[in-house]
Parts: sequence; C-alpha cells; structure tokens
Amino acid sequence: MSTIDFIENHRSIRKYKKKNIDPKILEKILSAGTRASTSGNMQAYSIIVTTEPSLKQKLLPLHFNQEMVVEAPALITFCGDFHRMRRWLEQRQAPANFDNFMSFMIATIDATLVSQNVALAAEGEGLGVCYLGTTLANCENIGDALNLPPHVIPVVGFAIGYPDEVPDKRDRLPLEAIVHHETYQDYTNVEILNMYARKEKTGWERYNSLPELKKLIEKEGVTNLAQIYTKVKYTKSSHHQYSNTVLNYLQAQQFMENG
Ligand SMILES: Cc1cc2nc3c(=O)[nH]c(=O)nc-3n(C[C@H](O)[C@H](O)[C@H](O)COP(=O)(O)O)c2cc1C
Repeated sequence: MSTIDFIENHRSIRKYKKKNIDPKILEKILSAGTRASTSGNMQAYSIIVTTEPSLKQKLLPLHFNQEMVVEAPALITFCGDFHRMRRWLEQRQAPANFDNFMSFMIATIDATLVSQNVALAAEGEGLGVCYLGTTLANCENIGDALNLPPHVIPVVGFAIGYPDEVPDKRDRLPLEAIVHHETYQDYTNVEILNMYARKEKTGWERYNSLPELKKLIEKEGVTNLAQIYTKVKYTKSSHHQYSNTVLNYLQAQQFMENG
C-alpha cells in the first residue's frame, strides 16, 4: 500500500483484541515516532506507556470512564516536558529557562507531533489507536496519577492495541473548505452550509446511533449537528471548566513565569 493510501485508511479504533503488544514492536514504533520534527531538536516531550492493569484502572475514571483505557493493552500519554531539559541545563551552568507559556506551547507542539508519528508507525504495524481528549481536559488529575514533576504536562494520549473492529471511515470536510491559496479567503454563508452539508448528515446519523448521546440529544431537544457540538458534546460551561483546569495546572506546573 502506498504511504498516501495507508494514511487515507485511518480510522480511530475503540475496540481491541485481548492481545498484548510485543515490547520489541512497541519500541520500534516509539523509536520511529521520535523521528518527528521537534523544536530546536530539544524533544520537549516525554512518552508514558501504561500497561499495568491496576494503573489503567486508576486512570479509567480520570479519562471519564472511556472503556478503551482498560480494554486496550496499552495507553500512551504524551507530555510536554521541559523538566528533563532543565535538569540538564542546571548541570551545565545554563540559565533555567523554559518555564513560561511559550515553552508550554513549544512542548505541546512537540508532544503532539511525536504522538501522531507514533500513531502512524503503530498503524503501519497493524495496531490501532484512539486519542483521548480527556488527557488535557483532566490534565491535573492525570498528571498526579502519572507522578509528573513540575514543567511536565499531559497533552495528548491514546489507547493502542490490535483492532477488534473495522469502523466506517469518518467524513472529512471537502478539501476546498480547508485549503486557502496564498491568503485566507473568507466564506459566504452559502459556501459554509455547502461545505458542512455532508458532515451535517453523517454526523447527525452517527451521534444518534450512539445510545448515550441519543439520550442527551433528546434531553437537550437539539435538532442539528451544530447544536450537538455546542449543547451536548462541547458546551460553553464544560469548556470554561476545562480551560480553568489547564490554566491552573500550567500555573502549578510552573509554566506561567511570564515575566
Ligand atoms: C485530540 C483528540 C482527542 C480525541 N478524544 C477522543 C476521546 O476522548 N474519545 C474518543 O472516543 N475519541 C476521541 N478522539 C477521536 C476522534 O473522535 C476521531 O479522530 C474523529 O472522530 C475522526 O474519526 P477517525 O479518527 O476515525 O477518522 C480524539 C481525537 C483527537 C485528535
């Protein structure tokens, strides 16, 4: 399969076979993952692989009870990390930088890039992954459970294992909705509705096919996909709460010494 066909074949996997990942295969995909570009070649990230059942069980409620956390043979948490680098700086009489918001952003970008490289390498080895947005939304509690020192923050994570399902490929917006040539070209209202037309149909059908979500959709009386996103899945109040969690944790992890 060509690289592009392979990338085009991606789907998130939420059901896994009860089969462990050979440590050699895991090492191979993690090593390939670290070939991702990284700011200044600093590798401002750490990768935490959790396979221990009791620890996964502890992480389950912190990931809002998403069963794949315990059903997948491993959970990988990608953390923005300037702790390691700062320990090195200290021993080389270099200033203790990287305790500010910009450093957090750099570490976050590094962690995200390496995560997606690991995800692709994993898929190349016949594994499947599903990202967990709860990693950031609940970063403080997950950081505590994973014993993160200051200057480290969990950014993204995913369950990983051998797929026990072949889900349908999910829709994407048409390319012309995403790509702008030369400068940003703003949309007319009609263009926006046309670009979202397919998603409105497939997204509505998908979320209504999931019993938990369907219950919430009916409870909130929402009538279209846009309302599902804003009144059910990502409400203003939940995002205010998560924003505060992240900002407080950034402070606690000493990433907010902005001068
Ligand atoms: C940062 C991030 C967080 C995500 N969090 C979750 C999650 O908490 N639970 C989940 O089931 N899927 C999660 N996903 C998976 C997305 O729902 C999925 O990628 C999207 O619906 C597109 O489907 P596909 O990956 O199969 O193409 C997340 C994806 C990303 C990139």
